[in-house]
Amino acid sequence: MAEGQSQESPKLQVEAAGKAFEQEFERFQRFTGDSAHAVHLSLREAEAEQRSLAELRTRHFGRKSALAACKKLIGRVSPDERAAFGQMVQQLESTLGQQLEHAEQALSRLVESARTERESIDVTLPGRRPRQGHLHPITLLRERIEDIFVTLGYAVEDGREIETDFYNFDALNIPQNHPARAPQDTFYTTDGFALRSQTSTVQIHAMQRRGAPVRMIAPGRVFRRDTPDPTHNPMFFQVEGLCVDRGISMAHLKGTVAEFLRRMFGAKTVTRFRPSYFPFTEPSAEFDFSCFKCAGQGCRICKNSGWIELGGSGMVHPHVLRAAGIDADEFSGFAFGLGIDRMAALMYSLDDIRLLFENDVRFLEQFG
Ligand code: FA5
Repeated sequence: MAEGQSQESPKLQVEAAGKAFEQEFERFQRFTGDSAHAVHLSLREAEAEQRSLAELRTRHFGRKSALAACKKLIGRVSPDERAAFGQMVQQLESTLGQQLEHAEQALSRLVESARTERESIDVTLPGRRPRQGHLHPITLLRERIEDIFVTLGYAVEDGREIETDFYNFDALNIPQNHPARAPQDTFYTTDGFALRSQTSTVQIHAMQRRGAPVRMIAPGRVFRRDTPDPTHNPMFFQVEGLCVDRGISMAHLKGTVAEFLRRMFGAKTVTRFRPSYFPFTEPSAEFDFSCFKCAGQGCRICKNSGWIELGGSGMVHPHVLRAAGIDADEFSGFAFGLGIDRMAALMYSLDDIRLLFENDVRFLEQFG
């Protein structure tokens, strides 16, 4: 009796293992059955099913599975039952294994095709337009200035941003220890180069390269050790202008700047010059123009003065002409320089020029 029971019990265990498997496996039948071709899953669903099936395999074929327990029983059943029992266990293992393998293969095909589908391109879909960028407000303004001067017969020069002391100071009549170096203090490299603090450096390069006569403007980036505030940045843009020829006088300077400002801000724009000092020009003058907003009446933009300060100018100092290899007895010239950032701030009513370089797309988009 005891023997009979122990023989029946292993058999029952095998049957129970089979049943437990069948029960759990049932939901995977749809991947192998007759209607398997109609099963359609998204990649996520198919991968989730794949994971569940792998867990099922571990539960029913793993070391702690009921099937493994049955296999251990083979050695324990009586010798005359052993062969039959062993066969029974093997039979179960191979039947279940086949079913499992079938389903696994079907699921990997489903995952594969879902992946292909996801990665394939539907050429009939309307394309997504790339977001179009636009020029930076400083560039827009620089181009307007360039256009005006090109029509006045000026060449556009490209200068260097890294300079030697000679071009940034000495050649511009600012010798070592001259107080004019202080407000234009800049950043230096360890090898003695300086980031230019003004576009006036290009005057020297242009005269050295082109000789006289020369007419050029040089827009570009300049650097100063200025603490950032609403009207100062340590990096900003200037435009330099230079005209050297025989018989050039202050009248040419005034006429040129006035014409430029009329073309920029309208035919009624009035320009005024105030005496000033720059080491590289003599005489020197700063120039203002009548406010483009209130036409000189006084408003918030011109701080109620009716005038807007724009830049510095003057007759090129003979020392500068000579430093660039030009005969100062034969030639004379004028030069001017203005800051583009502050000009942009005025034109676009910006309270703070730092906005121009914060690269906030919401701000920049307004200029598209
Ligand atoms: C000059 O730099 C002279 N090179 C101009 C010049 C050229 C005079 C040729 C004579 C002949 P100034 O240091 O004033 O001048 O600067 C000119 C303009 O640069 C200023 O009017 C202002 O608009 C702008 N600027 C100066 N410092 C800053 C700064 N930190 N941030 C923004 N703009 C500045």
